[in-house]
Amino acid sequence: MSGLYAISDLHVAFPDNRAFVEGLRPESGGDWLIVAGDVAERFDDVEWTLRTLAGRFGKVIWTPGNHELWTVKDDPVALRGEARYRRLVDMCRGLGVATPEDPFPVWTGDGGPVTVAPLFVLYDYTFRPDGASTKKEALEIAHEAGVVCTDEIYLHPDPHPTRDAWCDARIAYTERRMAELEPGTRTVLVNHWPLIREPTRVLWYPEFAQWCGSERTADWHVRFGAVSVVYGHLHIPRTIWADGVPHVEVSVGYPREWRRHRETPPGPRRVLPPPAEDAG
Ligand SMILES: [Fe+2]
Ligand SMILES: [Fe+2]
Repeated sequence: MSGLYAISDLHVAFPDNRAFVEGLRPESGGDWLIVAGDVAERFDDVEWTLRTLAGRFGKVIWTPGNHELWTVKDDPVALRGEARYRRLVDMCRGLGVATPEDPFPVWTGDGGPVTVAPLFVLYDYTFRPDGASTKKEALEIAHEAGVVCTDEIYLHPDPHPTRDAWCDARIAYTERRMAELEPGTRTVLVNHWPLIREPTRVLWYPEFAQWCGSERTADWHVRFGAVSVVYGHLHIPRTIWADGVPHVEVSVGYPREWRRHRETPPGPRRVLPPPAEDAG
């Protein structure tokens, strides 16, 4: 029986995580794999990973994380912002990997038909810490606490003036795309950052939440007919239910993180057919 699986935050710059990808195989050749961002920072590492997985799974569906969007010094692909994203999309198309810019694939296997919608929404600093009512105040609190996301250095929003302006454009694009679906379409929504704020409530540093999503997507799982929402980014893999819809974090994370609990990284999580624990 084939299934729709999901994983994120492969971070293959770490040799142990790269070795994990080298050994990653589908249970059945018809399995699909969602890769929900943070594959790597370097363009060639992202390409190697997606090429490897696309050669093994029936279909691979990718959406970018913040790390793919970083422009780092040792990367020959020096593109920034939107241009970097577009180059990643072109690379994916060459591999047959679906992106947020392509027609949404429809899973017709067990648990289907379900439209798998890879989104790229980014964040807009609205998951603010207590005491902040604006982005400026939220950032000030983060700087005071010494908790500032590295995106502020490496994730350039060009040609958008700010990362939150890029997020606004992505939300408008995504709402347009979702409005094109037939009414009643069942979906799996895939986004690197959580669509609801709840998963960020357990962050060790609450100031970090402002780089983790947008308040404007809080009702998307209801509005857009989600049977499941897949995300990553927080490196806190678990399932949270909202309005009867599972929001599943599928991250692998850094070796020092997964080693706390296990000897090998957690494998892909099955999304469809729904695992027994999600049957409610
Ligand atoms: Fe990550
Ligand atoms: Fe991330």
